[in-house]
Amino acid sequence: MSWFQVRPTNSIALLRKWAKPTMSIVDVGAGTSTLVDNLLVEGWRDVSLLDVSAEALDRDRARLGDTTGRLSFIEADICSWHPSRTYDVWHDRAVFHFLVEPDSRDHYVALAADTVNPGGLMVLTVFAPEGPTTCSGLPTARFSASELAALFEVAFSCEDSGVEEHVTPFDTSQSFTWIVLRRK
Ligand SMILES: C[S@@+](CC[C@H](N)C(=O)[O-])C[C@H]1O[C@@H](n2cnc3c(N)ncnc32)[C@H](O)[C@@H]1O
Repeated sequence: MSWFQVRPTNSIALLRKWAKPTMSIVDVGAGTSTLVDNLLVEGWRDVSLLDVSAEALDRDRARLGDTTGRLSFIEADICSWHPSRTYDVWHDRAVFHFLVEPDSRDHYVALAADTVNPGGLMVLTVFAPEGPTTCSGLPTARFSASELAALFEVAFSCEDSGVEEHVTPFDTSQSFTWIVLRRK
């Protein structure tokens, strides 16, 4: 959890365009992103934050305070998570690219396929082909939109995709690929 995006502009825009606040959403690897703050302001009522870091979730709890049951906090590793329910929207910004082994990516795709309701959405943002090869000291994988679409095509069809330049808190620029996938 060495960084998070202060204002997740692109994710907010994509969710405004493709989803609705009446939908349920899980933010995979939410960290201390303020995406959830924006979702709550926009009226989302069923938001789950998942992260392997208990510290990140504690900070989210402390920052967000009483949200009258609109939020769930899930401390889990996405590689071994067993969801107890399904969701309309799966959001992942800057987590999937940590899965450098094909087996762990295949597991992620199968998990997402089981966890996103038919007709639901996945909004995925990962390092682009020219993006960094490491992040927070960990190796990363990099993807074009067509590579992502192919990886997920067994269960998802591509609705939209693009690139995003992200300026980190350390004033470096990172290229991201984003994609909106719909569960078949
Ligand atoms: C680079 S940060 C991105 C945080 C947030 N999504 C954002 O865009 O600001 C990656 C986050 O994913 C979490 N993470 C990394 N690997 C994970 C895993 N295997 N399962 C769950 N969370 C993970 C980290 O703890 C961290 O909070």
